Amino acid sequence: MKFGIVCVSDRCSRGECEDRSGPAIAECVAALSDENAYRLVPDDEARIREALTALSDDFGADVIFTTGGTGFSPRDFTPEATRAVIEKEAPGVAEAIRAESLKITPRAMLSRGVSGIRGRTLIVNLPGSPKAVRESIAVVLPVLGHAVELLGGDTQSCGGNYGK
Ligand code: MTE
Repeated sequence: MKFGIVCVSDRCSRGECEDRSGPAIAECVAALSDENAYRLVPDDEARIREALTALSDDFGADVIFTTGGTGFSPRDFTPEATRAVIEKEAPGVAEAIRAESLKITPRAMLSRGVSGIRGRTLIVNLPGSPKAVRESIAVVLPVLGHAVELLGGDTQSCGGNYGK
């Protein structure tokens, strides 16, 4: 699988801190990944949109994980940028992440992260901390293979006999 990883952070993009969440994503998907592409962008809606479209349309990512910018602060725009580039919503993915995360911390309700599909790419917003990244990815990891098969048009992979 090809993964896109987008760290959304004003401070990291200015070099004021090191991104630890992008590497945490790479670590979590290592067993599934053939190739990763990484982008670090500020909390700027247009820059986030650009990174997402480039990783989807040009790199051909199967899955893009963003980290950061999902909260309530005035400079949190990642869900808005994601909504602008997806063609279909995948609400179950974001719902599952929030539901499982709420078992760990009530602060999970402060993430506005969304998930959706652009072309053959699943885009999933994750919160910004490495801890939240690890907890959230653990929720979706078991279904990623099947999600990517379905995105590629493989309806048989459900074990069903669609249309017959
Ligand atoms: N989800 C999990 N699983 N674990 C966490 O520690 N932190 C929350 C939430 N989701 C958290 C989590 C907190 S404190 C915030 S403010 C929101 O994610 C938004 O984070 P972001 O603005 O860095 O995207």
